[in-house]
Amino acid sequence: MSSGSSALILGIESSCDETGAAVVRRGSKILSNVVASQIPVHSPYGGVVPELASREHLRNILPVVRSALSQAGVTYPDLDAIAVTEGPGLAGALLVGISFAKALAHSVGKPLIAVNHLEGHIHAVLLEESQRAAESDNVHARSGVSLALVVSGGHTHLYLAQPRDTSWTYRNVGRTVDDAAGEAFDKVAKLLGLGYPGGPWIDALAPHGNPDAVPFTFSQIKAKVHRKGDPAALDPATATYFSFSGIKTAVLRSVHVHEMEAGIASRRAALAAIPNPQPADALALCDRRTLDLIASFQRSVIDDLRRKTFRAAEQFNADRILVSGGVAANRELRVRFTSAAIEHNLPIAFPSLALATDNAAMIAAAAWPKFLARDFAQSGLTAEPALALGRTSR
Ligand code: KG4
Ligand code: ZN
Repeated sequence: MSSGSSALILGIESSCDETGAAVVRRGSKILSNVVASQIPVHSPYGGVVPELASREHLRNILPVVRSALSQAGVTYPDLDAIAVTEGPGLAGALLVGISFAKALAHSVGKPLIAVNHLEGHIHAVLLEESQRAAESDNVHARSGVSLALVVSGGHTHLYLAQPRDTSWTYRNVGRTVDDAAGEAFDKVAKLLGLGYPGGPWIDALAPHGNPDAVPFTFSQIKAKVHRKGDPAALDPATATYFSFSGIKTAVLRSVHVHEMEAGIASRRAALAAIPNPQPADALALCDRRTLDLIASFQRSVIDDLRRKTFRAAEQFNADRILVSGGVAANRELRVRFTSAAIEHNLPIAFPSLALATDNAAMIAAAAWPKFLARDFAQSGLTAEPALALGRTSR
């Protein structure tokens, strides 16, 4: 870092359906964090349409970056580096952010840093932790092993994260074998005629139902058979596997058995007639059976995540738990994970709601250790839709 540097990184995020830009100082102080959401664009389809996502990113990226700089009160020459999400994510969406960041870094003469989106989610928690420590003048020394659950629309992963000098190392010790937990929230909400993305709708409606009404069970998941030398293969002796496609089918079965289809169709139509419908609008449109189904679904998913996460924490003797990603915004998840952490006498941390879902502040924060290590991207940087984080072996 040059003397007189203000240690500012501009982060850019475009891996899915949010265009984000943020300016973060020293990986720990957010000067601005701007997110342009595409929810209204994808809502009518009940899921992200990749082609539309790329187009929206193209439309939004320049205004979002400009507004992040102006909110932070900085200009391009003030920046020390530009960081961008390399993957995982949608190829076309990632490419918009990457192409923009490359061109910008080149034209303003700043180094470019490639960031893994999953590492970004973990750094959302670390960033706020350092920010709080700085505000309270606490000397903040990180040590020990954190077990990080990254739980979002595209991912359900467990990582052992450990600081090493200025950087972090990651070991992937768990993952879903099919759908991500957030994907299950989105699909169940869609099949019950609720809005998109489904997580916040289910979160808001679940407290109105009985979580014990429908006994969902999670079948035993067999370890995936991997080809020899497959870099994605987890250590079979210690791997944790999640599976969330079965519960979606179980919800669908319950809908058929109880002949709920007509009610769902009329709820969908009623919500479609409301401009910008919110979860509160859906409450009056849900009968007891629907609310019970929603509450039972949410409870089962959260309990499965909680049980397996705390079992892995014990297995690896983790010093604390971090939970991040869009599903970490869920209120019941926070309550149930927090009480389990108290029982297990383990510290636990979540990001604030704004940093739980996709944003660029977490990308700029994850880039800071890379900046210190001079770990800059090559000129051939391109989108890596299936990028993995960390090693998988012992
Ligand atoms: O991290 P994120 O913004 O994007 C991905 O990287 O996937 O996560 C989005 C996911 C969606 O599946 C959304 O339904 C879910 O996070 N989500 C929630 C809540 N808020 C967002 N799931 C449960 N409860 C919530 N409050
Ligand atoms: Zn994400």
